[in-house]
Amino acid sequence: MKLTPQPKIWFNGELVDWDKAQVHVLSHALHYASSVFEGIRAYSTPKGPAVFCLAQHVERLFQSCRIVRLPLPWQPAQISQAIRDTVVANRQEACYIRPLVYRGYGALGVLPDDCPVEIAIASFPWVRPNEEQLLANGLAVGVSSWRRMAPDTLPAMAKCAGNYVNSALAVGEAKDRGFQEAVMLDVDGFVSEGSGQNIFLVHKGTVSTPPVGSSILGGITRACVIQLCRDLGIALVEQRLPREMLYTADEAFFTGTVAEVMPIRMVDGLQVGNGARGSLTQRLQERFFTIARGRAEDRHGWLTPVA
Ligand SMILES: Cc1ncc(COP(=O)(O)O)c(C=O)c1O
Repeated sequence: MKLTPQPKIWFNGELVDWDKAQVHVLSHALHYASSVFEGIRAYSTPKGPAVFCLAQHVERLFQSCRIVRLPLPWQPAQISQAIRDTVVANRQEACYIRPLVYRGYGALGVLPDDCPVEIAIASFPWVRPNEEQLLANGLAVGVSSWRRMAPDTLPAMAKCAGNYVNSALAVGEAKDRGFQEAVMLDVDGFVSEGSGQNIFLVHKGTVSTPPVGSSILGGITRACVIQLCRDLGIALVEQRLPREMLYTADEAFFTGTVAEVMPIRMVDGLQVGNGARGSLTQRLQERFFTIARGRAEDRHGWLTPVA
């Protein structure tokens, strides 16, 4: 997605002009990936723009910082407010929000202790070409030869920059092979997730998704979809999924802040179900969008108005 400049970025406590939010080329994070980030959406609702699952995203940001030992000198309430202030300053109705915490300029060497911990929050429109068509028809995906990292190598549960080398390798390979996305397996060969999405399968009316122990990022959309299954009385299991279950599924879909609820129509050249969006996928997708766009009762408190 190509970026277009917006008015402001929240940078270490101040709203500064978009072009003024800059780093030095010797910043630690550029060399050693000492950074963590979040991806959040604000939706346009009848009551004005609202951030989706703000508290959950801020909580995950602080957890990522804790896991990779980035002491963020702010409180969660301050970051939540800064996120809302950024969207207001940019006068956005619906947007994608990117908080980034990183080690800045000061010293070089793997251990970053002499480098300041900095934070920036940007917001901008997320434009997805053929959005309606994609959400209706879904993606053709391929199982990657790149595995998700083994549990004792990199922290899959942290949304840290270094993990996205793995994601970029997988999605790059998928595109080279003519697929739109990758599905990665975990170190034991069980289904893990996409490059930036969690995965769900449906077999005979039961929805299944890999557990946190399969080297996934604990997706916030994943948690919402699990809740929606409970709300709608749909059977759901979190369990290790052998690769073959991808090829025998009646339905499959990805979840994520960018992906939202995205059907998967083909895996490794085999049609999923009859190759069209499945009925449970459509039901969950509709429920998700109705709540996110403020058109149904927000029973779980997922929406936070920006103003
Ligand atoms: C690797 C990975 N898995 C899953 C997800 C989906 O998580 P969420 O629903 O919180 O956006 C993301 C996106 O943040 C991701 O980068």
